[in-house]
Amino acid sequence: MNKGLIHGLSPSRWSEDVLGIVPDPWQENVLDGSHKRMILNCARQTGKSTVTGILALHTAVFRAPASVVIISPSQTQSSESLKKVKLFLALMSDKPGITKDNESRLEFANGSRIIALPGSTVTSRGFSAVDLLIIDEASRVLDDIYFGVRPLVAVSNGRIIILSTPFGKRGFFWQAWTDGGDGWERVMIPASDCPRITAEFLAEEKKSMGDWFYNQEYLCSFMEAEDNVFGYDLVMSAIDSDVKPLFEVSDYE
Ligand SMILES: Nc1ncnc2c1ncn2[C@@H]1O[C@H](COP(=O)(O)OP(=O)(O)O)[C@@H](O)[C@H]1O
Ligand SMILES: [Mg+2]
Repeated sequence: MNKGLIHGLSPSRWSEDVLGIVPDPWQENVLDGSHKRMILNCARQTGKSTVTGILALHTAVFRAPASVVIISPSQTQSSESLKKVKLFLALMSDKPGITKDNESRLEFANGSRIIALPGSTVTSRGFSAVDLLIIDEASRVLDDIYFGVRPLVAVSNGRIIILSTPFGKRGFFWQAWTDGGDGWERVMIPASDCPRITAEFLAEEKKSMGDWFYNQEYLCSFMEAEDNVFGYDLVMSAIDSDVKPLFEVSDYE
C-alpha cells in the first residue's frame, strides 16, 4: 500500500514515520481505533495530551476540511495544548500550508482548522460542525461547559475525546466513566503502565504526597473529597426510590 494512504488510515504509523514519535500501545489504540466517544482516565505525564495533539494534527491534515476544537479549563492550558500541536507540525518535513497562526488558532490552506480555547469562550463564539472535540483536563471543566459544547459535534457526527486525571466522584468526567454506557471507549493508564515513569520516581512521589493524592494523580482513582463525612457510594446506597417524599414540590407553589 502507498505510504500516504497508510498514513491517512493509521495516525500511529504517521506519528512514527513522520513525527518520529512512537506511540505507546494504548496511544496506538487512541490514534487508530476510530472510536466516536473516548474517555482517557490516565495518570499525570502518561502522554494523554500528546496523543490527542497528534490526533488533532492528523485530523487537520488528512480529513480536510476538518474542524478540531480543544477545550481546557483555562486560557493558559489551551495555549499549551495548541503549542503542542505546533511542535508536532514543526516535526513534519513536508509541512501543510498554514493560513493563520495565533495563540488559539491554527488554520490550514486545506480548509482545516484547530482551535484551542477555554470552554466558556467556545460556547459564546458559536462554533459549529466540529469533527473532533477534545476536552483536556476534563475533570476540571465545569458540567455547564461540557454540556454546552457537546452539540458542536451534532451536525458533523464528530468525535468526542475527554481526557483527564480524576478529580473526585463528581462531574461529567466521573459520570461518563462510571455510568456513561457502552458508547464510550474507556482507557485507563496508571503511571506504572507508562514506560517513561520509573518505579523509583513513583515510590518517592507516594512517600511525599501520601496515599490520597497518589491514588488520584498516579493510580487513576476517583477519590472522595477528604472532608466528606459520608462517601458518595454510602449516600447513594441509602437512597430508596420507594420512599415517598414528605412534601411534593407542588406543595410549595
Ligand atoms: N509516545 C511517546 N514517546 C515519547 N515521549 C512521549 C510519548 N508520549 C508522551 N511523551 C512525553 O511525555 C511527557 C508527558 O506527556 P503529556 O502528553 O504532557 O502527558 P499528560 O497530558 O498525560 O500529563 C511529555 O514530555 C511528552 O513529550
Ligand atoms: Mg496533559
